[in-house]
Amino acid sequence: MTPLDLVGGARPNFVKLAPVVWALRRTGLAYRIVHTGQHYDDEMSESFFKDLRIPAPDVHLGAGSGLAGAQTARILERYEAHLLAARPAATVVFGDVNSTLACALAAVKLGVPVVHVEAGLRSFDRTMPEEINRLVTDAVADLLFASEPSGLENLEREGVPSERACLVGNVMIDTLLAELPAARACDTTASFSLKDKGYGLVTLHRPSNVDDARTLARLVELLHELSRTLPIVFPVHPRTLAAARRHGIAERLTATQARLICVEPLPYRHALSLMAGAAVVLTDSGGLQEETSVLGVPCLTLRENTERPITVERGTSRLVGNDPAKITRAFHDAVAGRWPRGQSIPLWDGEASVRLVTVLASWLDARA
Ligand code: UD1
Repeated sequence: MTPLDLVGGARPNFVKLAPVVWALRRTGLAYRIVHTGQHYDDEMSESFFKDLRIPAPDVHLGAGSGLAGAQTARILERYEAHLLAARPAATVVFGDVNSTLACALAAVKLGVPVVHVEAGLRSFDRTMPEEINRLVTDAVADLLFASEPSGLENLEREGVPSERACLVGNVMIDTLLAELPAARACDTTASFSLKDKGYGLVTLHRPSNVDDARTLARLVELLHELSRTLPIVFPVHPRTLAAARRHGIAERLTATQARLICVEPLPYRHALSLMAGAAVVLTDSGGLQEETSVLGVPCLTLRENTERPITVERGTSRLVGNDPAKITRAFHDAVAGRWPRGQSIPLWDGEASVRLVTVLASWLDARA
C-alpha cells in the first residue's frame, strides 16, 4: 500500500502529528514521517519522538534555518526530490509554519493530494508570516481539517467546497489529554522549587514581539517587574535569544536573574506540567492559547489579534498586545482570580485525530 507522508518541521508540528500516528496505527493505513529539519536542536532528538510515542522520522530533509524565503525554498526543493523518488498517497501537512507551506507547494505541483490539518484559521493580519502560510496552504489543499468553527467559516467564505472541508476538533488537545497524567507525574514545578499555582509561565517568539529592539527590551523589563509579584519561568525560544543577543540585552535573559527564571526550551511533558501548574501564562504562541484554554489557566495573549478566536470566546485567553500597562492590569486580574474559568470547547475532547483519520481513510478510498 502506498504510504501517506506526514510532514513536520517545527516542534509543535510533531505534537499535532503524534495523535494522527496513534490513530493511523489502529487503521492499518501506511504512513511515513518526514522531518524537514526546520527546527533541529538537541531537544528534538530521539527522545522527543519517544516521549510522543511516535517513531523517529523515516525521512530527514535537514533543511535548517535561514531567512523565510531561503528556508521555504530549501524545504520545497528537498521535499520535491523526495516526492519524485517516493511518491506518497497524499501529503499531510500541519499548522502554519514554513515547512507546511513548502511541502504543500511541492506536493500540489506534482499532483500529489495535499491534506491540511488545522486549516482555515485566520488572524486577518498579513504582516504575520504564518498568516501567509495558512492562506497559501489552504488555497492548494485538497482536504482541509478545521480545529474550531471559525476555521470552517473562513474556508466557506473563501469558496472552499464544503465536501473538502471538515471540522474534526483539535488534534493538539488529543496529545495534551493523553499526556497530562505523565506530565503531572514529572512534577516539573517542584524541580524549579515552585509551588502549584505559585508562579507564572512566559513564552515569546513572534516577530512582532522580539524582532524590534525596543519592544523586546520593554517586554523583558516588564517581566522582571511582574516577577516581583510572582516568580516567572521563561523558556527562551532560540529566535528570541538570538534577537536578545542582537539587541544587546541577552544578559537580562540569563538564569541568574532571581525571580525571572530563564531556561532553555523544555521537553513537551515538562512544558505541559509547568503550564498546568501555572497561576497565569503570558504567551504569543498559538498552541499555548489553546492548551491553557483546556487546562483552565488564565492566558494573556501578547498579540493584537488571534487566528484562534474560540480561545477568547470560550477559553481563558485575553488579547493584551504588547502594551505594558495593559499587560500589567491583566496580570494582576489573573493573579487575583478575576478571570473567566473558560467553558469546554466542542470537539476538543481527545478524539479529534480519530475523527480525522476516519474521514481521511474514506476520502482516500473514494479516490482509489
Ligand atoms: C516557527 C514558526 C512559528 C511557530 C514556531 C514554533 C514559521 C514562519 N514560524 O517559528 O509559526 O510558532 O516555529 O516554535 O515557520 N529553533 C531551534 N529549536 C527550536 C525552535 C527553533 O533550534 O525548538 C531554531 C531554528 O532551527 C532556527 C530558529 O530557531 O534556527 C528560528 O526558527 P524558524 O524555523 O525560523 O522559525 P520560528 O521562529 O521557530
